[in-house]
Amino acid sequence: TKVSLTGIKPTGEPHLGNLIGAIRPALKLAEQYDSLYFIADYHALTTVRDPELLRHYSRSVAATWMAVGLDPKRTTFYLQSDVPEVFELTWVLSCVTGKGLMNRAHAYKAARDRNIEAGEDPDAGVNMGLYNYPILMAVDILIMETDVVPVGKDQVQHVEYAADIAGSFNHLYGDAYSFKIPQAIVPDTGTGHTLPGLDGRKMSKSYDNTIPLFLPENKLKKLVRRIPTDSTPVEEPKDPDSSAVFQILEQFAPESAADVVADTRKRLEAGGMGWGELKNVLFEVLNTELAPLRERYEELMRPGSELDTALAEGAERARARASRVLGSVRGAIGIDR
Ligand code: TYM
Repeated sequence: TKVSLTGIKPTGEPHLGNLIGAIRPALKLAEQYDSLYFIADYHALTTVRDPELLRHYSRSVAATWMAVGLDPKRTTFYLQSDVPEVFELTWVLSCVTGKGLMNRAHAYKAARDRNIEAGEDPDAGVNMGLYNYPILMAVDILIMETDVVPVGKDQVQHVEYAADIAGSFNHLYGDAYSFKIPQAIVPDTGTGHTLPGLDGRKMSKSYDNTIPLFLPENKLKKLVRRIPTDSTPVEEPKDPDSSAVFQILEQFAPESAADVVADTRKRLEAGGMGWGELKNVLFEVLNTELAPLRERYEELMRPGSELDTALAEGAERARARASRVLGSVRGAIGIDR
């Protein structure tokens, strides 16, 4: 069977974009693939400097995976930091990765462009963790012999980098050991491929515009009210596809709410449905689906919950796989006794 793997970085509470772009599609793959899911806690260290907060976010991401349906018995579920083999391979692969490739990485380039625009030193505030981020991510993928990586559109470049880096290694050492070349799978979420957030831009922890999955009901309602809309009057026809509220509804709604979505689209296009009513529909659909998951999430967040045993078992399985691959790599490069 082929291997699928994906990770989430614990830099904030998991949000709707993570659910739609990664968690749901990735969990679906467990039916056909040997599936691995992990919490990329060392990736989060490039931005999260508060240890309490990092602990909290890591647990929160883990609890989210399980609340949404991950079965830790049938899959491999672990914390990145529990697999030290990852860091050893990161050095090895750094040595076959061109610096120019890293210079072109989106996240690094975006940070530089922001600095240049602000008239600052281009590398101001850029740490080496941000710069090397794509190599660590390549290792997450390659060390588990991954075939496919279900991710949102914003992570596709990173998966291509992993394929590139694997290619460089294989070119040099392929007679002794070859990495599998991974491929991204991006869920088809209609028009945008990325879920818009509270300000209409991509929903992202770094823009602080997310709708976290497990907010208390009243907070969820408040956030939904904050999604921007234009000033088209209630009675006038509206274009559902250019509305962030409708996009979130359409992309989030489960099968069981398909008729609600279709009906809402018709009513917006015909005129007669206002943005306020649309927001009520979105809130209801979100809350109906999320309320039971929220309860499960709260349970899992309690210290000593089954989350801890699941992660401990997952760590063992993940390490066994990683050390097998690392052993082959060591042999291939000439660092073995
Ligand atoms: P992260 O934590 O930013 O996001 C986790 C997943 O959620 C997707 N996503 C979205 N999809 C659609 N619309 C959105 N608005 C949206 N926001 C986030 C992301 O595309 C991602 O799939 N570098 C990764 C974590 C990582 C990783 C890996 C992933 C580390 N190692 C190895 C896969 C394989 C990240 O920062 O994702």
